[in-house]
Amino acid sequence: MHESILVYGKLRYLKVALALAALSAVAYVLHTPLGPPNGATWLGYTLGGISGGLMVWLAWFGIKKRTYGAGRLSAQEWLSAHVYLGTALAFVATLHAGFRFGANIHTVLYVLMMIVIISGMVGVYFYLRYPRLLTENRRGLSSEVMLAQLADLDREIRQLAMGLDDATNTLALNAIRDTIVGGSLANQLRGFDPHCPTTVARMFVERSSFESTSEQDAKRRQLLMRLVRKEEMLKRIRRDVQLRCVLRVWLYVHVPFSIAALMALVAHVVTEFYYW
Ligand code: HEM
Ligand code: HEM
Repeated sequence: MHESILVYGKLRYLKVALALAALSAVAYVLHTPLGPPNGATWLGYTLGGISGGLMVWLAWFGIKKRTYGAGRLSAQEWLSAHVYLGTALAFVATLHAGFRFGANIHTVLYVLMMIVIISGMVGVYFYLRYPRLLTENRRGLSSEVMLAQLADLDREIRQLAMGLDDATNTLALNAIRDTIVGGSLANQLRGFDPHCPTTVARMFVERSSFESTSEQDAKRRQLLMRLVRKEEMLKRIRRDVQLRCVLRVWLYVHVPFSIAALMALVAHVVTEFYYW
């Protein structure tokens, strides 16, 4: 997905969404029901039917996404339509309800639907921005290659540290053994480790004096270089994990709330027809 989903087909789906919203608004203004506007008038049922149909169709996207190529619409076209018609749904459903909200199952449905729609908007921002951020951060390397380079650096650090004093050796080994990439959800989202053992080791070696040109100091300099490189690589890997984690967390909001909203829709329609 890239920027073109918002301008897909010369804004085709923005125009469809605006036309739908405008038609609903005109009908709502011209409609003169006996009581206050509400979901049980002929217009209320029409707008309710459109809202319900739209919601089922938007949720169908989850299944459709996994079977691209089977239908007429491309992945981009689907998503463009999903985004604009999903946004129009907020408008049509509000007119359907006649702005009548209260402590009832109907309003629960409305709130769930709005959570899905608002999370969708946040998702558009992520999906437009993150692929570029991921590519820039990876600089042409895959996650596997970055991890392999990290392992190479660890091997070199271990060898260099072996010939150095105990304190340096211990901190270098800690940097190899205790450095964590990923971990808990909070750590993944944070994207850095405030107590990273590699940083501790790098700072320690940096502070040690390099006054002579002895073999030890040459090794120490090489060790410092490797630790700096490892820190830089860790920064990129943690950023990679962070960006991918944000997208996963976003899906965990958008999709389960879609399912909850669909269930509330069924409850709404069943209760309305039951009391009819
Ligand atoms: C996304 C879809 C929908 C949303 C968010 C939604 C939301 C609402 C809300 C908030 C109300 C106001 C409740 C009140 O007056 O206290 C309402 C009323 C109503 N809705 Fe829906 N609705 C949707 C779809 C549908 C569908 C598909 C139907 C059935 C065809 C339907 C039938 C009705 C009826 C008959 C009322 C009037 C209830 C009354 O005044 O007692 N709605 N809807
Ligand atoms: C009630 C309305 C909506 C429902 C039921 C709904 C449902 C879904 C579902 C089921 C998926 C597929 C997720 C997956 O399985 O990977 C999805 C993806 C998505 N939706 Fe919605 N959605 C709604 C409204 C919106 C709105 C209003 C927007 C944006 C303004 C939006 C933006 C997105 C985006 C960006 C994706 C990810 C596409 C991808 O992974 O390629 N959604 N939505």
